[in-house]
Formats: sequence, C-alpha cells, structure tokens
Amino acid sequence: MSAKGLLDRYGVSLRGLARRNRLRSLGPRAGLDFASNDYLGLAGSEGTAAAVATALANGTTVGATGSRLLRGNAPEHAALEAKAAGFFGAEAALFFGGGYIANLAVLTTLPRKGDLVVLDALIHASAHEGARAGHAHVVTVPHNDADAVDGAIARWRAGGGTGHAWIVAESLYSMDGDRAPLNELARVADRHEAFLFIDEAHATGVYGPDGRGLAHRYEGRENVVVLHGCGKALGASGALITAPGILCDYLVNRCRPFVYATAPSPLMAVAVAAALDIMTHEPERRQRLQDMVALASGKAQALGLKASGSQIMPIIVGDNRGAMVLAGRLQARGFDVRAIRPPTVPEGTARLRISLTLNVEKPDLLALLDALSEEWPR
Ligand SMILES: Cc1ncc(COP(=O)(O)O)c(C=O)c1O
Repeated sequence: MSAKGLLDRYGVSLRGLARRNRLRSLGPRAGLDFASNDYLGLAGSEGTAAAVATALANGTTVGATGSRLLRGNAPEHAALEAKAAGFFGAEAALFFGGGYIANLAVLTTLPRKGDLVVLDALIHASAHEGARAGHAHVVTVPHNDADAVDGAIARWRAGGGTGHAWIVAESLYSMDGDRAPLNELARVADRHEAFLFIDEAHATGVYGPDGRGLAHRYEGRENVVVLHGCGKALGASGALITAPGILCDYLVNRCRPFVYATAPSPLMAVAVAAALDIMTHEPERRQRLQDMVALASGKAQALGLKASGSQIMPIIVGDNRGAMVLAGRLQARGFDVRAIRPPTVPEGTARLRISLTLNVEKPDLLALLDALSEEWPR
C-alpha cells in the first residue's frame, strides 16, 4: 500500500470535519485575553515566578526523573500535597500532571466493577473518558438534575446493583459557567451511601473562602473526592485530588496513570504551592474578578444577552459557521474570543466562550461587549 493510501482516511475525516464547519487548527495568541482560563492573572505573576526561580536556584530539578513510586517522588510533591490537604480541608491530596489525566485516573481506579457512575450530561470530556475506560456501569443524566441522579441510582439498585454509586459533577461548568446543585447532590449521595466526585477545575481559586472552591463545605467527608485544577485560576498546571487518606493510598497503589508515569515537574509543584499562598494572601484578586463579573452581567443584560453570573460567559450562537464568523470579527477588532463548537458543546449550541480574567481591564470588557452588540445585533 502506498503511503498516500495509508494516510488517506485521515484526510477524508478532516475534509468531513471541514464540511461541517468543525475543522480545528492551531492559531497564535493575539488580542486581549477573553479566552484563557487564567482567571486571576496568575500565569505570569511575579509571586509564582519568584518562588520557582528560588527553588531552581536552591537545587529543585526541572525533571522528576521517574514515577512517584520510584525516584520521581521529590520533596516538593509531598510538600505541595501536605499544604493542599490543609488548604482545602481534606484528609489527603495527590498531585497529578493535569486535570484530564486526574479525571481519567480517578474514574478508572476508584469506581470498581459492580459500581455505578452517574455522569452529568455536560461533564467534561475527561470524565467521560475515565468513566468509559473504567470498570463500573455508566449512565448519563440530564444536566444539573439531582432528581434524575436520585432516580438513576434508585433504578440501578432496584435492578440488582450491589456496589457503590459515584455521582460525578463539575461545580462550575466549563462551557456554560453555571453551578451544580451541590447541596442536592450531596444529599442524594448521602441517601444512597454514594460517593460524590466534584470537578472544581473552573472554581478552584475563584470561589469559596481563600479560593478553596464551591465544594469547600464537603471536603473532608468520607464520601467526597474533589479535583482541583491547577492550570486555570491557579495559573500553573496539574491537578490536585483531595480525598480521604485511604483513597489517596489506594490511588498510589492501584491507579495506573499515577503508577506508570513520570511524576510532574517538581518546579510545577513549587508553582502550585506558591499559587495557594497567593490565594490566601491576595484576596483582592478574587474581588477584582467578581467586580468584572458584576460589570459584565449588568452590561450583558442591558444588551439583551443572558449572563451566567460567573467568569465564564457563553454567548450561544447556534450554528458552527455563525459562531466562527462572529469570533473572527471580534478577533479582527483585537479581542481574543474563541468559538466553541460540537462535540465540545452539544449540537446546535456553538457559542463564543467569553472568559473574564484579570489580564484585561474593565474598559476592555465594556469595549468587547459593545463590539459584540455591533457585530451581533439582537
Ligand atoms: C471541567 C474540566 N475538568 C478537567 C479539565 C482538564 O484539566 P487540564 O487542562 O488541567 O488537563 C478541564 C480543562 O479543560 C476542565 O474544563
């Protein structure tokens, strides 16, 4: 077979994506930041950079050199995990190289054969991936519907399910910016002796006392596992799983993405630890972001747009091409706004995902919303 023959099917697939206005390509960063998840402007902060520079000067290595179970277990990892457990109010914490891998890790390891995993319909792709690759039975329920979660578990039990149920939700949804009904979900979990796994990727650092997240009230419970993203508001990369100590011990022993992987860079552990200190010492960052959210919500409502009430503002356009064209027009005016299309979001809900961060000023935000109303009159 010729090389062309070997590669043909990929070209066919890409042309199919292009026909449906779903083709993606990598583009440069340009324009005012209304696209990143660097909500608190920490990715380039002096505090984090100084902590990393000091650690480097004092001998912290760039590479971890191996798995955490071998020589890769650096003191910086353990120091971060101890700090994070205290910060979030959990018994223990475990540091992973990213949120995607952490979701995959938890969901392929903790729910066991005979268990049930109940996924919110809008949960992140990595949770779907982990649930699918894991050993438990998986069901998806309508978005933010605690009664549907309750019903799914009850039906599974009535049908002979004997294991434990795992309820999986994001505390703040990445593409809609809306919050999960955590109180109701926790009640359902308690009623069914189920576990609650909460992905705080977009809430860590932004909400709760000291930025401990929307799930801070539930940390430390024996049936609660939380994923704290370190690559978004914390401005670094990685993810911290906070959980009862026995579950972290179990992950260390049984979680293949943890065991069979080179540990994250010790320098990244230092950066995340520094970001946690900034959470405590610079509450004004959170306040400034909330001021931006309030300003955006007021202005959006005045323009006839729906506000999510969080730093994630979806502008639902509907069709893929329309969303791309609108994003392109705003980009041409100097605003880095990205269109999000299926399968990242449900079919027919292509959108602009406007992200509010401290990397822009309030006048920039007002200018963006004015430009949006000119380019997309309602
Ligand atoms: C809700 C949610 N969970 C997990 C992830 C993955 O995190 P990371 O980017 O650190 O791999 C993301 C990031 O896109 C996310 O939005």
